[in-house]
Parts: sequence; C-alpha cells; structure tokens
Amino acid sequence: MEVLINAEPRLSKLDHLFVLLAEGDKPRAWRKPIDHSGFAGRKDEAITIVHGEPKKLTLLGLGKREKLSIRSVRAAIYSVAKTAKKHRDKAIGVSVPYVLGALSAEETTRVIADALAQADYKYDAYITTNQEEKAPPITATLAPAEGVDAKHARRLEAQSRALAESVRTVRDLGNAPSNILTPSRLAERAQQVAKTAGVKCTVYDKREIEKMKMGGLLAVNRGSAEEPRFIVLEYAPRKASRHVALVGKGITFDSGGISIKPAEKMEEMKFDMCGAAAVIGTIQAAAKLELPVRVTGVIPSTENLPSGSAYKPGDIITMMSGKTVEIVNTDAEGRMILADALHYASELKPDHLLDYATLTGACVVALGNEAAGLFSNDDELARKLIECGERVGERLWRLPEWDEYKDLIRSEWADMKNSGGRWGGAISAALFLKEFVHCLSWAHLDIAGTAYAEHETARESRGATGAGVRVTLAFLESLSRS
Ligand code: BES
Ligand code: MN
Ligand code: ZN
Repeated sequence: MEVLINAEPRLSKLDHLFVLLAEGDKPRAWRKPIDHSGFAGRKDEAITIVHGEPKKLTLLGLGKREKLSIRSVRAAIYSVAKTAKKHRDKAIGVSVPYVLGALSAEETTRVIADALAQADYKYDAYITTNQEEKAPPITATLAPAEGVDAKHARRLEAQSRALAESVRTVRDLGNAPSNILTPSRLAERAQQVAKTAGVKCTVYDKREIEKMKMGGLLAVNRGSAEEPRFIVLEYAPRKASRHVALVGKGITFDSGGISIKPAEKMEEMKFDMCGAAAVIGTIQAAAKLELPVRVTGVIPSTENLPSGSAYKPGDIITMMSGKTVEIVNTDAEGRMILADALHYASELKPDHLLDYATLTGACVVALGNEAAGLFSNDDELARKLIECGERVGERLWRLPEWDEYKDLIRSEWADMKNSGGRWGGAISAALFLKEFVHCLSWAHLDIAGTAYAEHETARESRGATGAGVRVTLAFLESLSRS
C-alpha cells in the first residue's frame, strides 16, 4: 500500500485508525476507549470500536513490551492490512508509539513503513475472476516514532517509497511463472528497471556467452529450448569510494534436469531466480536512493530442463575460469552458473563480492525459513552483514567454509565434482563457489529458505518475500557512511 509519514494526519480524512500497543500501556489519548473496552494489549488481541473521528478505531495488542521486535511488529502490521482489507478501508492511520530495540527513531519508522508498504501485497497479476471482490487500494498514514521531525518524516517517506518499489520488483519477478519469465524476459525486465532507475544494463546472448566461454552456464542451458542470458547492471555514481559486486542466481525454472526432481512441489522451482531478482531490486533502490557506492549486478540466467541435448551426470565441463567440473548431479545447476558469474565478477576487482542464491535444500533443512545461510571468507564482512540484517529484520546465520569440507567435492576425473552429496550440502555448495572467487571479501547468501514462503505466514503472503534486498541496502548504506 501507499505509505505517508505524518505525525498529525487529518483524522476526519481517515476511515480507520490502528493503534498498536504493548501490554498494559495506556497513552493518554486512548485511555477512555482502553478502559471502556478492557483492552489489555495482549499479543494478537484486537478490538475495533466505532469512533467519531476517525470512524473506526482498532486497538491492536503487541504483547509484552520487552519482547517487541522487528519481526513481531511486522506480524502486527500484516494483520492491520488484513483487517483494513476486510473493512474495505481506503485511508488508514497507524500508530506504533515505540522505538524498537537498538534502532533509532528513524530506523524504527523506516522498518514500520516498509512493513506497511508490503502488508497488502498479493501477486494477483493473473487473477481474472472475482475482480469485483478485490479490495480498494489503501493509503496508510504512519505516525513516525517520537523524535522524528517533519523534515525527517518527508525524507523517510521518500526512502520508504524507493525501498517499497524495489521489494515489489523482487516479489513480482519471483512470483512470475516460468512460462512468462524466461531468461530473455528476465533480461528485458532488468533493462526496463535499469532504464527507469538510470542504470546501465548490458545483456549478453548465447553467442556472446559462448565467446566468453562460460562453460557452466552453457552446460546447464543445453537442456532448454530457451536461450540463456548473462545480465550486467552497473550503477556507478561519480562520488563512489567503494565498489560492490552482486551476483544473483537466475534459474527461471529448475526441474533438476536429467537428475530430475520429484513432481511434488516442483512448481516452487519457478522461484529459483529469486537471487537474480534480489540483485535487480537492490540496484534499483541503490540508484533511487543515490547511494554513493558503485554497485555492479551480475546475473547468469537459464532454465534447467532435461532433453536429448541436456548435460548429463558423468559429463566433464570446462568452466570460464578454465577449471574443470565433473557433473554428478544435474540438479546442482545453480553453482554451475554462479561459478562463471563469480569468476566474471571477481575480474572486476570489486571491494566486496556478494552472491544471492536459492542454492540448496540442505540450507533449508538446517535453518528452515527464518534465516538465510551466510558463508564468507571475510570475518569483518560477515559480522557487518549479520548486524545490518538485525537492523532491518532479515536474519543471516553464518555457516563454516572450512577447507576440510573440500574433500566432499573432490573428483577422480576433474578438478572437482559439482555435488558433495547430502551431508553438509549447503557447505559443500559454498565451497564449490569459493573455487571460482578471487576476491578477499566475499559473502554467499543461501536464500533457499527465505526467498519465498510456501504458505502464507504471520508476516507475509504466500510467494516471493524480497529476501536479500533490505540487508544489502543496509550494508551499502553503512559503506557510504564509513
Ligand atoms: N534450486 C535448488 C535448491 C532448492 C531446493 C531451493 C529447495 C529451494 C527449495 C537447487 O538447484 C538444487 O536442486 N539443489 C540440490 C543440490 C544437490 C543436488 C546437491 C539440493 O539441494 O537438493
Ligand atoms: Mn537444482
Ligand atoms: Zn536450483
């Protein structure tokens, strides 16, 4: 929904005001309705009162004050949108009179504005029936946290709009079905986004990819009737002092290839380009926010399908870097295309190299849907990313990339094999990638568990979540401060 930030909205213009309160809190303005209704502020407690101005007032409980967190407030905000939709409200007001944990008043306001902007998101591009049941668009006016003046509020509003737009880009791309969002279509979308954001975008087609000898990307592409694409986005502001390269996995559909996946849930593999989407969205926002950091996005994209010409277990592939890989499982395709992209990005000599990929089921087994796996060869970078994640409500959990695990991908016939088997699967995948990284400050985010929600959750609708964008923007911002 559209979010305005304003401490004193015209109450008469609002259909519905939502006041989110922790247990036992009784701000003066709401003492009467609280006493009258018996509202206690328990988690998920909601009382809607017919009011004067605005017409409706909903008191929403946040639970114990000391347990307030970005994630719990996100959930509360998601339920605000649900209620507003049910009520067919067009203009709502939202007040959350707290500052969250270690955040500043500004950061708190930004996090809540972000949650609000996404709270009514639903991917309905292909719903043609029940149009009349669609709720009207909602405009929310958020009261900023205490200490944010009107000038700050206006700046936060603009920043929040930029973030909301880019998260929406990521979610829309992620949710798009693979018959529509093919590699060439993904490249076109990247070009469109680049054009409106004022960013350079270069798209390489199959012939150019062959010339660059990207053996990994070409091998995976062999089973597909769709051409591959290699997409490079360049945001290069004049005042930049650092250069960050972002690499994103762009498998528009992953059937597993010859090592085909079981039918159950295979439809979810349309989300296998969420890493690529995160890179596109992040650059879109970085440009819009005019962050003084040079950012290069690198996206290898193809489908992974079986066919008479598909790559096969036992094949040996020569990668762009010259290293050779024995294929033992064609379903370990993400690392094949990322290897070439990481090699390409390393050659650009960035200060930091970050990659985003729905890379392994093993990472989901380890961490579920609450945290992305983080691997890094740079302790300082890892620490910073985790901290940035904390500040925006995106959890990263570090896993090791110790050399001992390299045994898992040792091959008899080539420099390495493309799968280390089930045990430690997220780690052996990261170690495979590491073989193609020549940057001393690299981080790999395995977002297989966080990029999309299998079901609706307490915080968001089903489908792509926009994982990766918020933490990366916070990191880019922190670079522009140091
Ligand atoms: N795209 C999948 C990983 C994935 C699985 C993402 C489940 C989201 C949910 C990836 O290409 C894959 O198939 N990985 C294999 C690797 C294995 C063959 C070594 C996996 O995780 O099973
Ligand atoms: Mn796969
Ligand atoms: Zn995959």
